[in-house]
Amino acid sequence: MKIIIGNDHGAVELKKKIINHLTSKGFECVNIGVDTEDSVDYPDIAEKACAEYLKGDYDYGILCCGTGIGISISANKVEGIRCALPQDSYAAEMTKKHNNPNFIAFGGRIEYKDNIEDMLNAFFDNNFEAGRHQNRIDKMMALEKR
Ligand code: RB5
Repeated sequence: MKIIIGNDHGAVELKKKIINHLTSKGFECVNIGVDTEDSVDYPDIAEKACAEYLKGDYDYGILCCGTGIGISISANKVEGIRCALPQDSYAAEMTKKHNNPNFIAFGGRIEYKDNIEDMLNAFFDNNFEAGRHQNRIDKMMALEKR
Protein backbone atom coordinates (compact mmCIF):
# COMPACT_ATOMS: atom_id res chain seq x y z
CA MET A 1 0.00 0.00 0.00
CA LYS A 2 1.45 3.37 -1.03
CA ILE A 3 0.24 6.52 0.70
CA ILE A 4 0.79 10.19 -0.03
CA ILE A 5 0.59 12.18 3.19
CA GLY A 6 0.53 15.94 3.72
CA ASN A 7 0.04 18.22 6.71
CA ASP A 8 0.25 21.82 7.78
CA HIS A 9 1.87 23.18 10.94
CA GLY A 10 -1.17 22.18 13.02
CA ALA A 11 -0.52 18.47 12.67
CA VAL A 12 3.22 17.77 12.62
CA GLU A 13 3.14 15.29 15.52
CA LEU A 14 -0.02 13.58 14.30
CA LYS A 15 1.50 13.14 10.84
CA LYS A 16 4.56 11.49 12.40
CA LYS A 17 2.34 9.11 14.41
CA ILE A 18 0.42 8.19 11.28
CA ILE A 19 3.59 7.52 9.29
CA ASN A 20 5.03 5.43 12.13
CA HIS A 21 1.91 3.32 12.40
CA LEU A 22 1.42 2.80 8.69
CA THR A 23 5.10 2.01 8.18
CA SER A 24 4.79 -0.65 10.90
CA LYS A 25 1.91 -2.14 8.87
CA GLY A 26 4.22 -2.36 5.86
CA PHE A 27 2.85 0.66 4.01
CA GLU A 28 5.06 3.03 2.04
CA CYS A 29 4.39 6.66 3.06
CA VAL A 30 5.54 9.60 0.95
CA ASN A 31 5.57 12.76 3.07
CA ILE A 32 4.91 16.04 1.27
CA GLY A 33 3.85 17.83 4.46
CA VAL A 34 5.79 20.17 6.72
CA ASP A 35 7.95 19.05 9.62
CA THR A 36 8.13 22.31 11.56
CA GLU A 37 5.49 24.52 13.14
CA ASP A 38 6.25 27.45 10.82
CA SER A 39 2.90 28.62 9.46
CA VAL A 40 1.86 27.38 6.01
CA ASP A 41 -1.45 27.43 4.13
CA TYR A 42 -3.33 24.12 4.19
CA PRO A 43 -4.92 24.56 0.70
CA ASP A 44 -1.39 24.52 -0.76
CA ILE A 45 -0.65 21.22 0.98
CA ALA A 46 -3.97 19.72 -0.14
CA GLU A 47 -3.37 20.82 -3.73
CA LYS A 48 0.12 19.32 -3.78
CA ALA A 49 -0.96 15.99 -2.25
CA CYS A 50 -3.97 15.66 -4.56
CA ALA A 51 -1.90 16.44 -7.66
CA GLU A 52 0.63 13.81 -6.64
CA TYR A 53 -2.11 11.25 -5.93
CA LEU A 54 -3.78 11.89 -9.28
CA LYS A 55 -0.57 10.96 -11.11
CA GLY A 56 -1.74 7.42 -10.28
CA ASP A 57 1.06 5.93 -8.24
CA TYR A 58 -0.72 5.92 -4.85
CA ASP A 59 -3.45 3.85 -3.20
CA TYR A 60 -4.63 6.52 -0.76
CA GLY A 61 -3.91 10.02 0.45
CA ILE A 62 -3.93 11.30 4.03
CA LEU A 63 -4.20 14.97 4.95
CA CYS A 64 -3.87 16.59 8.35
CA CYS A 65 -4.29 20.15 9.60
CA GLY A 66 -5.29 21.54 13.00
CA THR A 67 -8.87 20.30 12.72
CA GLY A 68 -8.69 18.31 9.50
CA ILE A 69 -11.53 20.49 8.26
CA GLY A 70 -9.80 23.10 6.08
CA ILE A 71 -7.52 20.61 4.41
CA SER A 72 -10.33 18.13 3.71
CA ILE A 73 -12.58 20.86 2.27
CA SER A 74 -9.67 21.93 0.06
CA ALA A 75 -9.04 18.36 -1.15
CA ASN A 76 -12.71 17.87 -1.93
CA LYS A 77 -12.54 20.82 -4.35
CA VAL A 78 -10.14 18.82 -6.54
CA GLU A 79 -11.83 16.78 -9.25
CA GLY A 80 -11.56 13.05 -8.56
CA ILE A 81 -10.78 13.43 -4.88
CA ARG A 82 -13.16 12.13 -2.23
CA CYS A 83 -11.77 13.00 1.19
CA ALA A 84 -13.41 11.73 4.38
CA LEU A 85 -12.96 13.28 7.82
CA PRO A 86 -13.74 10.46 10.28
CA GLN A 87 -14.33 11.49 13.87
CA ASP A 88 -13.75 8.05 15.43
CA SER A 89 -13.03 4.40 14.59
CA TYR A 90 -16.65 3.66 13.75
CA ALA A 91 -16.76 6.49 11.20
CA ALA A 92 -13.37 5.42 9.80
CA GLU A 93 -14.70 1.88 9.27
CA MET A 94 -18.00 2.99 7.82
CA THR A 95 -16.53 5.55 5.45
CA LYS A 96 -14.35 2.82 3.95
CA LYS A 97 -17.29 0.41 3.66
CA HIS A 98 -19.78 2.90 2.27
CA ASN A 99 -18.00 5.97 0.80
CA ASN A 100 -14.74 4.37 -0.39
CA PRO A 101 -12.80 7.65 -0.07
CA ASN A 102 -9.44 7.98 -1.76
CA PHE A 103 -8.32 10.43 0.94
CA ILE A 104 -8.86 10.62 4.68
CA ALA A 105 -8.16 13.60 6.89
CA PHE A 106 -7.45 14.05 10.59
CA GLY A 107 -6.93 16.98 12.94
CA GLY A 108 -3.74 17.37 14.93
CA ARG A 109 -5.45 19.63 17.48
CA ILE A 110 -8.51 17.41 17.90
CA GLU A 111 -8.90 15.16 20.94
CA TYR A 112 -10.34 12.03 19.38
CA LYS A 113 -12.01 9.51 21.66
CA ASP A 114 -10.20 6.73 19.79
CA ASN A 115 -6.48 6.69 19.20
CA ILE A 116 -5.19 7.41 15.73
CA GLU A 117 -3.78 3.90 15.29
CA ASP A 118 -7.23 2.36 15.90
CA MET A 119 -8.84 4.83 13.50
CA LEU A 120 -6.30 3.99 10.81
CA ASN A 121 -6.79 0.25 11.36
CA ALA A 122 -10.56 0.70 11.18
CA PHE A 123 -10.11 2.32 7.79
CA PHE A 124 -7.38 0.23 6.23
CA ASP A 125 -8.45 -3.17 7.61
CA ASN A 126 -11.94 -2.91 6.15
CA ASN A 127 -13.14 -3.12 2.57
CA PHE A 128 -15.54 -1.17 0.41
CA GLU A 129 -18.89 -2.98 0.19
CA ALA A 130 -19.73 -1.73 -3.34
CA GLY A 131 -23.27 -2.61 -4.55
CA ARG A 132 -25.74 0.17 -3.70
CA HIS A 133 -22.88 2.19 -2.21
CA GLN A 134 -21.11 2.35 -5.58
CA ASN A 135 -24.29 3.75 -7.10
CA ARG A 136 -24.36 6.49 -4.45
CA ILE A 137 -20.68 7.29 -4.98
CA ASP A 138 -21.30 7.55 -8.73
CA LYS A 139 -24.05 10.08 -7.99
CA MET A 140 -21.80 11.94 -5.55
CA MET A 141 -18.96 12.23 -8.03
CA ALA A 142 -21.33 13.27 -10.82
CA LEU A 143 -22.03 16.41 -8.75
CA GLU A 144 -18.52 17.57 -9.76
CA LYS A 145 -19.70 17.81 -13.37
CA ARG A 146 -22.76 19.99 -12.70
C1 RB5 B 1 -4.03 26.63 11.07
O1 RB5 B 1 -3.88 27.51 12.15
C2 RB5 B 1 -5.43 26.00 11.09
O2 RB5 B 1 -6.37 26.94 10.72
C3 RB5 B 1 -5.46 24.80 10.19
O3 RB5 B 1 -4.50 23.87 10.60
C4 RB5 B 1 -6.77 24.03 10.15
O4 RB5 B 1 -7.22 23.72 11.42
C5 RB5 B 1 -7.83 24.60 9.30
O5 RB5 B 1 -8.90 24.02 9.08
